[in-house]
Amino acid sequence: METVSFTRMSEGTVEDYALLDKLEHEFTAKLPDRIMAALAGLEHTLSGYKVSRLGHSLQSATRAHQDNQPVEYIVAALVHDIGDDLAPYSHSELAASVLRPFVDDRLHWIVKHHGVFQLYYYGEQMGMDRNVRDRFKNHPWFDDAVEFCEKYDENCFDPDFENLPLAFFEPMVREVFSREPSFGELAV
Ligand SMILES: [Fe+2]
Ligand SMILES: [Fe+2]
Repeated sequence: METVSFTRMSEGTVEDYALLDKLEHEFTAKLPDRIMAALAGLEHTLSGYKVSRLGHSLQSATRAHQDNQPVEYIVAALVHDIGDDLAPYSHSELAASVLRPFVDDRLHWIVKHHGVFQLYYYGEQMGMDRNVRDRFKNHPWFDDAVEFCEKYDENCFDPDFENLPLAFFEPMVREVFSREPSFGELAV
């Protein structure tokens, strides 16, 4: 396999970085495949609920689809807990970061804060403050995050709900994660 000439980045040539850029584009083009694989892996993560984490995610995306939400919202619902594996203490932020270049700021904000807003439904039972979401109550997207948790998260643990299969959402995943990325204030 072709490799660069350098052992420290500052010594790389224009040709080196052209090679890396080409390989990175090829690798990034397969992002939808990796998202699909990560979603499939959610079948075997957190236990104890009546549905698997994949089942929960499919239920969330199915409800968003049934409500005629736009494709990026449906995909956001599908991946909103994709961070459970690697970021158990900050899973909302991980999912939001995965979505960040492909969705608008509002949807990114909703996913990033859904963990805090979810506390409203179980914080009291866990001896925590269920109203921590109120710290955002003057935020323009407060109601949007409330809606996400109410319609597409806290209610998505029903084993009798007939969700659509992961394959149904694959074209949507491919469409959203193949978009031209927009980084906003993120330069790298
Ligand atoms: Fe979550
Ligand atoms: Fe969730």
